[in-house]
Amino acid sequence: MNEFQSKEVKNRKKITTKTLVTMKGRGEKITALTAYDFLMARYLDEAGIDMMLVGDSLGNVIQGNATTLTVTLDEIIYHAKIVRKAVKTALLVVDLPFMSYHVDLKESVRNCGRVMKETGADAVKLEGGERIAETVKHLIKVGIPVMGHLGLTPQSINIFGTYATRGTDPKEAKQILKDAKILQDSGCFGIVLEKIPASLAKKVTDSVKIPTIGIGAGINCDGQILVTQDMLGMTEMFHPRFVRKYLNIAEQSKTAFRNYIKDVKNKKFPNKSESY
Ligand code: KIV
Repeated sequence: MNEFQSKEVKNRKKITTKTLVTMKGRGEKITALTAYDFLMARYLDEAGIDMMLVGDSLGNVIQGNATTLTVTLDEIIYHAKIVRKAVKTALLVVDLPFMSYHVDLKESVRNCGRVMKETGADAVKLEGGERIAETVKHLIKVGIPVMGHLGLTPQSINIFGTYATRGTDPKEAKQILKDAKILQDSGCFGIVLEKIPASLAKKVTDSVKIPTIGIGAGINCDGQILVTQDMLGMTEMFHPRFVRKYLNIAEQSKTAFRNYIKDVKNKKFPNKSESY
């Protein structure tokens, strides 16, 4: 399908992990959204998104599960391989699912290696701070770029017990700040900050040289990420205040489906020009 690629996209330079760090340096905001399938990835790349994440949020928006915990390594690899085919310029980051980097270093490196080798991803994303520092260092040693993820890390939902904002008490805020520095010192090229107070996200952003990508973390992060299905208004039952809906695809789709049903029932589809 490459022949449909616009001239604008052909002339764009591939975004690397280094590009994101440079963008922070010059104060240029980084844009990121999630992708799980070929067509959506293609639209995102054509639109000029800087970073695409094959997130384990696919457990929620693709598989219909309540949490991300059930997503397997094989499932994320399956989706990342599909997305890879459509991505030409964006930095392609793939989430490591729950329990794929928790047992020991050997298994973590092997699983991250599988993601890189089998999907052609540019980098992986792991949740956690101090706890994953050794893993991050090992991954970087073998040539795998790593993005961190702090704050409301969905893989820890059973410990948190709720999706409430993290880092609101001084002790946890201090730990998030410390974790961000540890991730930077371990070699991460960027950190996702999820659902923490904007003032804390600013402190983290000011205290590290690597870019912070916020989701529900206010305006002062170096970039922003949302789940694409949320910002397109596809996930009707999910309304956190950090999601801005740029479309209402749920409503528009249902209207289109109702019109199709009506047309078929009333023998209005197909017409002559739609027939052979
Ligand atoms: O899985 C995901 O989509 C994510 C983003 C929300 C950052 O981790």
